[in-house]
Amino acid sequence: MCGIVGYVGREQAAPILLDGLSKLEYRGYDSAGICVYDGAALQVAKTKGRLQNLIDLTRGGASLPGTSGIGHTRWATHGAPSDKNSHPHMSDGRKFSVVHNGIIENYLPLKEMLEKKGMQFHSETDTEVVANLIEYFYAQGATFRQAVRKAVARVEGSYALGVLCADVPGTVIGVKKDSPLIFGYGQGRNFIASDVPAILKYTRDVVYLNDGDLLEMTADSVTFYNTHGEVVEKKTEHVTWEISAAEKGGYAHFMLKEIYEQPKAVRDTIHPRIREGRIVLDDIQFPAEYLKNLRRIYIVACGSAYYVGVHGKYIIENLCRVPVEPVLASEFRYADPVLDDTTLVIIISQSGETADTLAALREAKCRGARVLAVVNVVGSSIAKAADDVLYTWAGPEIAVATTKAFSTQLAVMYLLALYIAQELHTLPPERYDALMAALQRLPEQLEEVLSPENVTAIQYYAAQYFNNRDVFFIGRNLDSATCLEGSLKLKEIAYIHSEAYPAGELKHGPISLIENGTLVVATATNPALFDKTMSNVKEVSARGADVLGITIRGFEDAIHKTMDSAIFVPQTEVLFQASMSVIPLQTFAYYVALMRGCDVDKPRNLAKSVTVE
Ligand code: F6R
Repeated sequence: MCGIVGYVGREQAAPILLDGLSKLEYRGYDSAGICVYDGAALQVAKTKGRLQNLIDLTRGGASLPGTSGIGHTRWATHGAPSDKNSHPHMSDGRKFSVVHNGIIENYLPLKEMLEKKGMQFHSETDTEVVANLIEYFYAQGATFRQAVRKAVARVEGSYALGVLCADVPGTVIGVKKDSPLIFGYGQGRNFIASDVPAILKYTRDVVYLNDGDLLEMTADSVTFYNTHGEVVEKKTEHVTWEISAAEKGGYAHFMLKEIYEQPKAVRDTIHPRIREGRIVLDDIQFPAEYLKNLRRIYIVACGSAYYVGVHGKYIIENLCRVPVEPVLASEFRYADPVLDDTTLVIIISQSGETADTLAALREAKCRGARVLAVVNVVGSSIAKAADDVLYTWAGPEIAVATTKAFSTQLAVMYLLALYIAQELHTLPPERYDALMAALQRLPEQLEEVLSPENVTAIQYYAAQYFNNRDVFFIGRNLDSATCLEGSLKLKEIAYIHSEAYPAGELKHGPISLIENGTLVVATATNPALFDKTMSNVKEVSARGADVLGITIRGFEDAIHKTMDSAIFVPQTEVLFQASMSVIPLQTFAYYVALMRGCDVDKPRNLAKSVTVE
């Protein structure tokens, strides 16, 4: 996730662009840059670090004259945060400048093609390919707009682009697919931006672009084109939100916004790694024969990331037949683990800076294991220290309680398990194909989980139970792993004591805590284990518990034989079902916390990045 902004008008562009970027820093903050047309040529100023560095570098924009320009605040995906990887990116001949939010999935073959034509590249980013591709088509006689259109037709992936051309001063082109882009109407000035806050100070009349739309704007005009290049009229919306709400995209809290971003985050994480029905992990460079000699996998992490590891154990063992042990990072380094070069240590961390996790990584490397990190922040300490990195492309997560990072980490477990299975030939082809098909359907199904009917039902149950003092989460197999996360969410943001147990384990002790009115959330999404979990539900109901079920569609009648209250999610492969069931658990915790008046985004005693042991 990055933030882009574009301006054409009569005032100096640079200060307006910097002001717009300051409202988009929540979308990424590892570097920032602007490009303006100064009357003679395109001038770029960009730098690693927070936006303030760019403001200092350009003296608040004063050092860059010119009345049209584009700006960017970056959340690194391809290439570490650095000056040269910062946007805007100039084309090789310096005719075009581009800012981009999204991921160009086929940038490597495009780069090779352009290099063969003699074009040079100066960064490690996917975006630079777009700048050079536009220049390539322009050199062949296309107009500015035609060149942009031709370039995006060759690109696979997601993009919102802002483009300047040195030969067409006073014009900015914007185009989008699967990444947000809006247009803002001003008086004698026009804007594009990733999000409303960037331009709210200047206009409240905006157009939300659809996928495939392209716009060409000057200070006094704008023309919208559809995918076929036809001129189209677009509906103008009047924004009534205030800036504080707008930064959260209209949501009351970052956590809720991030819950709703999960389908896209999972799509962004999975999609670029599937080509022609197979998993392609370009980012991993395992030595030859490494997987064949693999004897054991440890998954090491803290908190929710550790719970992803607990899911990972079920998934990887099932698909790859390699023993997997999830271990808490704070315990791993003191547990004298048995490691050698036949052991893979998978480290999972959203921030990439968690002290316990980093220390465990170093311990694993010292003891001769290969380390693969699953990290959300490019260039973070864990990413730098690992042998290989698989990034989750969740974008910046602002709420302290993780939601979308968790979901993308889970998605990486699926990718990794299928990749190892593919390399070790542990799956019959039909099973592999069925899993691949299910994986590709997942983002769409996650959208269904967040249907208005489901969210209304969750709000209703939250209102019913928000005063409970004790909550138990039970499930079997992968469902029991998802319960761990559901329970943690409720503890950390709603401050309710809760426990998660494998459903069959209650009778060995904790069932003595069940009394009249204790809430038990029963997650039962595995058809083969459904009846067994229902038996455990009956045991707690008989002792006075109120039970809320989470199950799959098609099991409506079956679950209502045992309980009245239930939430239904779409069915997928059993191994991927946790992606569906965790969302109602997160959303339930969110609404319970809200009803208890808790500070949802900044829960007490917690920090987003835990850099102490
Ligand atoms: C819970 C949560 C924490 C983190 C844990 C690890 O909602 O966010 O439990 O999962 O602190 O943090 P990272 O993933 O940054 O290493």
